[in-house]
Amino acid sequence: MSNLKTINDIQDLNGKKVLVRADLNVPTEGDKITDDSRIVRFAPTAKLLSDKGAKVIIVTHFGRPKGKTLEFSNKILVENLSNAIGKPVDFIDDTIGDKVEEKINNMNNGDILLLENVRFYKEEEENNPDFAKKLSLLGEVFVNDAFSTAHRAHASTEGVTHYLPSYAGLLMEEEVNALTKALENPVHPAIAIVGGSKVSTKLAVLENITKKVDAIVIGGAMANTFLLAQGYGIGESMAEPDMKDTALKIIEEAKKNGCEILLPIDVCVAKKFEANAENEFKGVDDVDGDWKIFDVGPETSKILETKFNDAKTILWNGPLGVFELVPFDRGTNELARVVAKLTKDGKVVSVAGGGDTVSALNNAGVANNFSYISTAGGAFLEWLEGKTLPAIPPLMK
Ligand code: 3PG
Repeated sequence: MSNLKTINDIQDLNGKKVLVRADLNVPTEGDKITDDSRIVRFAPTAKLLSDKGAKVIIVTHFGRPKGKTLEFSNKILVENLSNAIGKPVDFIDDTIGDKVEEKINNMNNGDILLLENVRFYKEEEENNPDFAKKLSLLGEVFVNDAFSTAHRAHASTEGVTHYLPSYAGLLMEEEVNALTKALENPVHPAIAIVGGSKVSTKLAVLENITKKVDAIVIGGAMANTFLLAQGYGIGESMAEPDMKDTALKIIEEAKKNGCEILLPIDVCVAKKFEANAENEFKGVDDVDGDWKIFDVGPETSKILETKFNDAKTILWNGPLGVFELVPFDRGTNELARVVAKLTKDGKVVSVAGGGDTVSALNNAGVANNFSYISTAGGAFLEWLEGKTLPAIPPLMK
C-alpha cells in the first residue's frame, strides 16, 4: 500500500472548505460528453467529502484552451457531475478572485461548487506561485484526486501544495495502489503488453519495464520495427527503420534482465488500410511486396494465450493491431477476452491504462472485467517509464 496522506487523515471535515483537484477532462462531441468515465470515477470523492459536511470546491481543467473560450467552459460538466454524485453541483464562471471567494463564503456545509476551467489562466500551466497562492485561498485543505494529470507540475496540481495541507482523494489512492501493485511489486510471472505505433514514443517505457516484468509482448506497428530489425521483410507496413538499432538494444537489454520479448510469429496483412479490406494470415517470414501488417495472426494469439495462462500479473498498454478497423481488431479482442477470463477466474491481476488501450478493451467488451482500468493516459505512460509524477510526492506522508 502507498504512503499517501488520504481523506481519512483530514481532521474534522464538517464545515471545512476543501479545494479538490479533479481531472474532468472528458471527451466531447459538440456539447455532448461522449465518455463520462472520469466524472463517474471522481464522484465518490466529492460525495464522501460532501456527506461529511465539507464545502467541496472542485477545480479542474477541460481540454487545452488558449485563453478563455466558451467552448472550453466547465459548465458542460455540471449535469453529469451532479448526476454522478447524486447531489446538486453549483457552478461559478471564474476560478480565483473576490467573486469566487464570496461565493465560497456563502456555501453551506455539504455544498458542492465547480469552478471555471483552471486553464483559462495561463499561470496554471506555468505553475505560477502567485496564482497557486490565489487558488490556495479558496480552501483550508487541498485534496488531489487527479492522478491522470499528476504528470503535470501545474499550479492546481503541484503549486497549491506549497500553501495548503495536501491529501490524496479516493481515486488518486486507488490509482497509485493499483499501479504500484502491478508494476512496482507485481506477483510473478508478470507480463506487459506494450502496443502502439511507434517505438520512439514507448522507448522509455520499454527500457523501464524490462527490469520489472518477466515478458513483454510487443504489438501494433511497433512490432514491425522489431521484426525489421531482426531481418524480416515487412512489405509496406508502418515502421520506424531508424529505430532498428534501438529495437535490437532493447532485446539485448531485456535478455540481460531475464525478460522475454514476445514478437508475432504470424500476422494479418492487407493491401488497403480500410475496414473489411481483403486480408490474409501470413508467417512473419512471408510478408513482402505491398502487403501491410495490421494485426497479429492466430498462431501468435495461441502462443500468447499459453503465456497468459501461466501469468499472475498482466499489465496492458496499447493495442496489438489496428483495433479501430474490422477485422484487424481480432488479435486485440481475442487476447483481451483471454485476460478478462483469467481475471474473472481469479488467476491473474490485470491492469490496463493509456489512451487507446481503454477504447480497445471497450471495443472487445471486456473493460469491466479487468482488475483495474486506469483513468490516465499520459500519466499512465510516465508511470510506466518509471518517472516521478510531480503532483504525487506532496501527497506522501
Ligand atoms: C489527460 O487527458 O491525459 C489529462 O487530462 C491531461 O491533459 P493534458 O495532456 O492536456 O495535460
